Amino acid sequence: MMDFVEEILFSKEDLNEICNRLGKEISNDYKGKELVLVGMLKGATLFMADLIRKIDIPCYIDFMEASSYVGTKNSGGEVKINKYLRNDIKGMDVLIVEDILESGFTLDTVVKILEKQNPKSLKICTLLDKPESRKVKNIKADYVGAKIPKDKFVIGYGFDYNEKYRNLPFVGVMNLKYAD
Ligand code: IMP
Ligand code: MG
Repeated sequence: MMDFVEEILFSKEDLNEICNRLGKEISNDYKGKELVLVGMLKGATLFMADLIRKIDIPCYIDFMEASSYVGTKNSGGEVKINKYLRNDIKGMDVLIVEDILESGFTLDTVVKILEKQNPKSLKICTLLDKPESRKVKNIKADYVGAKIPKDKFVIGYGFDYNEKYRNLPFVGVMNLKYAD
Protein backbone atom coordinates (compact mmCIF):
# COMPACT_ATOMS: atom_id res chain seq x y z
CA MET A 1 0.00 0.00 0.00
CA MET A 2 0.99 3.64 -0.33
CA ASP A 3 3.21 4.16 2.69
CA PHE A 4 1.78 7.59 3.52
CA VAL A 5 -1.48 5.76 4.33
CA GLU A 6 -1.32 4.00 7.68
CA GLU A 7 -4.73 2.38 7.53
CA ILE A 8 -7.77 2.44 5.25
CA LEU A 9 -10.70 3.63 7.37
CA PHE A 10 -13.41 3.69 4.71
CA SER A 11 -13.11 1.83 1.43
CA LYS A 12 -14.87 2.83 -1.80
CA GLU A 13 -17.60 0.35 -0.88
CA ASP A 14 -17.96 1.73 2.67
CA LEU A 15 -18.28 5.26 1.27
CA ASN A 16 -20.89 4.14 -1.23
CA GLU A 17 -22.88 2.54 1.58
CA ILE A 18 -22.67 5.69 3.69
CA CYS A 19 -23.92 7.82 0.77
CA ASN A 20 -26.75 5.35 0.11
CA ARG A 21 -27.90 5.48 3.73
CA LEU A 22 -27.66 9.26 4.07
CA GLY A 23 -29.29 9.83 0.67
CA LYS A 24 -32.25 7.68 1.68
CA GLU A 25 -32.61 9.40 5.07
CA ILE A 26 -32.45 12.86 3.53
CA SER A 27 -34.88 11.98 0.71
CA ASN A 28 -37.28 10.64 3.30
CA ASP A 29 -37.01 13.57 5.70
CA TYR A 30 -37.52 16.18 2.96
CA LYS A 31 -40.17 14.28 0.97
CA GLY A 32 -42.43 16.67 -0.99
CA LYS A 33 -39.95 19.52 -0.56
CA GLU A 34 -37.11 21.05 -2.52
CA LEU A 35 -33.68 21.16 -0.95
CA VAL A 36 -30.69 23.46 -1.33
CA LEU A 37 -27.45 21.58 -0.71
CA VAL A 38 -24.56 23.83 0.28
CA GLY A 39 -21.27 22.01 -0.30
CA MET A 40 -18.23 23.20 1.64
CA LEU A 41 -15.24 23.66 -0.67
CA LYS A 42 -12.99 22.00 -1.18
CA GLY A 43 -13.11 18.99 1.10
CA ALA A 44 -16.76 18.07 0.61
CA THR A 45 -16.76 18.04 -3.20
CA LEU A 46 -16.35 14.30 -3.68
CA PHE A 47 -18.86 13.47 -0.94
CA MET A 48 -21.32 16.04 -2.31
CA ALA A 49 -21.05 14.60 -5.83
CA ASP A 50 -21.81 11.09 -4.60
CA LEU A 51 -24.48 12.11 -2.10
CA ILE A 52 -26.66 14.19 -4.45
CA ARG A 53 -26.99 11.22 -6.79
CA LYS A 54 -28.58 9.27 -3.94
CA ILE A 55 -31.17 11.96 -3.20
CA ASP A 56 -34.42 11.59 -5.11
CA ILE A 57 -36.16 14.89 -4.36
CA PRO A 58 -35.60 18.10 -6.38
CA CYS A 59 -32.28 19.70 -5.36
CA TYR A 60 -30.36 22.87 -5.94
CA ILE A 61 -26.65 23.02 -5.28
CA ASP A 62 -24.45 25.87 -4.16
CA PHE A 63 -21.05 26.14 -2.49
CA MET A 64 -19.22 28.07 0.19
CA GLU A 65 -15.56 28.04 1.06
CA ALA A 66 -14.19 28.60 4.53
CA SER A 67 -10.70 28.22 5.90
CA SER A 68 -9.15 28.72 9.28
CA TYR A 69 -6.38 31.25 9.65
CA VAL A 70 -3.87 29.12 11.49
CA GLY A 71 -2.10 25.92 10.57
CA THR A 72 -2.98 23.24 8.11
CA LYS A 73 -3.55 20.27 10.37
CA ASN A 74 -5.22 21.86 13.38
CA SER A 75 -8.10 24.22 12.96
CA GLY A 76 -8.14 27.32 15.11
CA GLY A 77 -10.93 29.57 16.22
CA GLU A 78 -10.74 32.16 13.48
CA VAL A 79 -12.60 31.26 10.33
CA LYS A 80 -12.22 33.10 7.05
CA ILE A 81 -14.91 32.93 4.37
CA ASN A 82 -13.40 32.80 0.88
CA LYS A 83 -16.61 32.21 -1.04
CA TYR A 84 -20.23 33.01 -0.23
CA LEU A 85 -23.40 31.52 -1.74
CA ARG A 86 -24.30 32.44 -5.29
CA ASN A 87 -28.07 32.17 -4.86
CA ASP A 88 -30.66 33.48 -2.41
CA ILE A 89 -31.76 30.91 0.21
CA LYS A 90 -34.56 32.96 1.79
CA GLY A 91 -37.49 30.68 2.60
CA MET A 92 -35.65 27.56 1.37
CA ASP A 93 -34.82 24.29 3.09
CA VAL A 94 -31.03 24.26 3.28
CA LEU A 95 -28.63 21.44 4.09
CA ILE A 96 -24.93 22.14 4.60
CA VAL A 97 -22.73 19.32 3.30
CA GLU A 98 -19.35 19.19 5.08
CA ASP A 99 -16.40 16.80 4.96
CA ILE A 100 -15.62 16.66 8.66
CA LEU A 101 -16.83 18.30 11.85
CA GLU A 102 -14.01 18.76 14.31
CA SER A 103 -13.84 21.78 16.65
CA GLY A 104 -17.06 23.13 15.14
CA PHE A 105 -15.60 26.61 14.51
CA THR A 106 -16.06 26.35 10.73
CA LEU A 107 -19.70 25.28 10.83
CA ASP A 108 -20.53 27.67 13.66
CA THR A 109 -19.38 30.55 11.45
CA VAL A 110 -21.16 29.24 8.36
CA VAL A 111 -24.42 28.55 10.23
CA LYS A 112 -24.46 32.10 11.61
CA ILE A 113 -23.97 33.55 8.12
CA LEU A 114 -26.65 31.38 6.54
CA GLU A 115 -29.17 31.98 9.34
CA LYS A 116 -29.02 35.71 8.58
CA GLN A 117 -30.30 34.91 5.09
CA ASN A 118 -33.55 33.55 6.58
CA PRO A 119 -33.77 30.02 5.20
CA LYS A 120 -36.94 28.08 6.11
CA SER A 121 -34.76 25.40 7.70
CA LEU A 122 -31.04 24.82 8.10
CA LYS A 123 -29.42 21.47 8.83
CA ILE A 124 -25.96 19.92 8.67
CA CYS A 125 -24.77 16.75 6.99
CA THR A 126 -21.17 15.71 7.57
CA LEU A 127 -19.34 12.72 6.20
CA LEU A 128 -17.17 12.38 9.31
CA ASP A 129 -17.44 13.62 12.87
CA LYS A 130 -14.72 13.82 15.53
CA PRO A 131 -17.00 14.47 18.54
CA GLU A 132 -14.15 14.38 21.07
CA SER A 133 -12.57 17.42 19.37
CA ARG A 134 -15.63 19.64 19.65
CA LYS A 135 -14.98 23.11 21.07
CA VAL A 136 -18.23 24.81 20.01
CA LYS A 137 -20.65 22.76 22.04
CA ASN A 138 -23.92 23.75 20.35
CA ILE A 139 -22.82 22.60 16.90
CA LYS A 140 -24.25 19.20 16.08
CA ALA A 141 -24.64 17.46 12.74
CA ASP A 142 -28.12 16.22 11.83
CA TYR A 143 -26.73 13.60 9.45
CA VAL A 144 -23.40 11.87 10.14
CA GLY A 145 -21.68 9.37 7.86
CA ALA A 146 -19.41 8.01 10.60
CA LYS A 147 -17.73 9.04 13.84
CA ILE A 148 -13.95 8.75 14.15
CA PRO A 149 -11.52 9.28 17.04
CA LYS A 150 -9.80 12.64 17.38
CA ASP A 151 -6.28 11.29 16.97
CA LYS A 152 -6.83 10.10 13.40
CA PHE A 153 -5.85 12.59 10.68
CA VAL A 154 -7.59 11.44 7.52
CA ILE A 155 -6.73 11.92 3.86
CA GLY A 156 -8.42 10.96 0.59
CA TYR A 157 -11.96 11.22 -0.84
CA GLY A 158 -11.70 15.02 -0.59
CA PHE A 159 -9.63 15.17 2.59
CA ASP A 160 -6.22 16.77 2.17
CA TYR A 161 -2.93 17.25 3.87
CA ASN A 162 -1.48 20.53 2.58
CA GLU A 163 -3.83 20.26 -0.43
CA LYS A 164 -2.54 16.82 -1.39
CA TYR A 165 -4.19 13.38 -1.46
CA ARG A 166 -7.78 14.58 -2.11
CA ASN A 167 -8.01 12.22 -5.09
CA LEU A 168 -7.49 8.95 -3.21
CA PRO A 169 -10.64 6.84 -3.76
CA PHE A 170 -10.82 5.87 -0.05
CA VAL A 171 -10.52 7.61 3.33
CA GLY A 172 -7.26 6.65 4.99
CA VAL A 173 -5.38 7.60 8.12
CA MET A 174 -2.28 9.56 7.27
CA ASN A 175 1.05 8.23 8.43
CA LEU A 176 2.37 11.27 10.29
CA LYS A 177 5.94 10.37 9.38
CA TYR A 178 5.05 12.01 6.05
CA ALA A 179 3.77 15.22 7.63
CA ASP A 180 6.08 18.18 7.14
P1 IMP B 1 -13.46 22.55 12.49
O1 IMP B 1 -13.69 24.00 12.25
O2 IMP B 1 -12.42 22.29 13.53
O3 IMP B 1 -14.71 21.77 12.75
O4 IMP B 1 -12.70 22.11 11.21
C1 IMP B 1 -13.11 21.25 10.29
C2 IMP B 1 -12.16 21.39 9.12
O5 IMP B 1 -10.83 20.99 9.46
C3 IMP B 1 -12.62 20.46 8.04
O6 IMP B 1 -13.49 21.12 7.15
C4 IMP B 1 -11.33 20.02 7.41
O7 IMP B 1 -11.00 20.89 6.36
C5 IMP B 1 -10.28 20.15 8.48
N1 IMP B 1 -9.97 18.82 9.08
C6 IMP B 1 -10.26 18.41 10.33
N2 IMP B 1 -9.83 17.16 10.56
C7 IMP B 1 -9.24 16.75 9.41
C8 IMP B 1 -8.62 15.53 9.01
O8 IMP B 1 -8.51 14.53 9.76
N3 IMP B 1 -8.12 15.49 7.74
C9 IMP B 1 -8.24 16.54 6.89
N4 IMP B 1 -8.83 17.70 7.22
C10 IMP B 1 -9.32 17.81 8.47
MG1 MG C 1 -12.98 21.84 5.20
